[in-house]
Amino acid sequence: MKKILLIHGPNLNHLGKRDPAHYGSLTLDELEDTLRSQAETEDYTLKTFQSNHEGALIDFIQENGDAAGILINPGALTHSSYALHDALLDSGLPCVEVHLSDIKNREPWRAISVTTPACLKQFYGKQVQSYEEALDFLLSQL
Ligand code: DQA
Repeated sequence: MKKILLIHGPNLNHLGKRDPAHYGSLTLDELEDTLRSQAETEDYTLKTFQSNHEGALIDFIQENGDAAGILINPGALTHSSYALHDALLDSGLPCVEVHLSDIKNREPWRAISVTTPACLKQFYGKQVQSYEEALDFLLSQL
């Protein structure tokens, strides 16, 4: 089966413990299970990866260049990591960025994404629904 990379950046391993007003109450495992079913209905498998380390995220992207596409929530690296931007761009894969919270209506620094220019589109602000819509969009591009 063709694979989609579902990548989560720093602190997203703590979903379920983080502020539910921003991030909802699902754990990362629960979120991934929902998306896995969604991908499988379109005959894609999800290869998931979470790390709190920028370099590990970049290594994972470089090592999985045979994927069909990337769905990524870079966490706070969204707002600072030019290295992650370059890894996404260099992969040559269709990438979609996703956030659980409404990053446009929180602290001003969260509204800035340095990774979005390497992505086809950014989804945010609807908690788990942001992910579902982002995955639907990515699937529509493959
Ligand atoms: C986040 C938004 C980021 O600003 C934050 O640092 C996160 C999660 C989100 O999914 O809303 O860790 O990417």
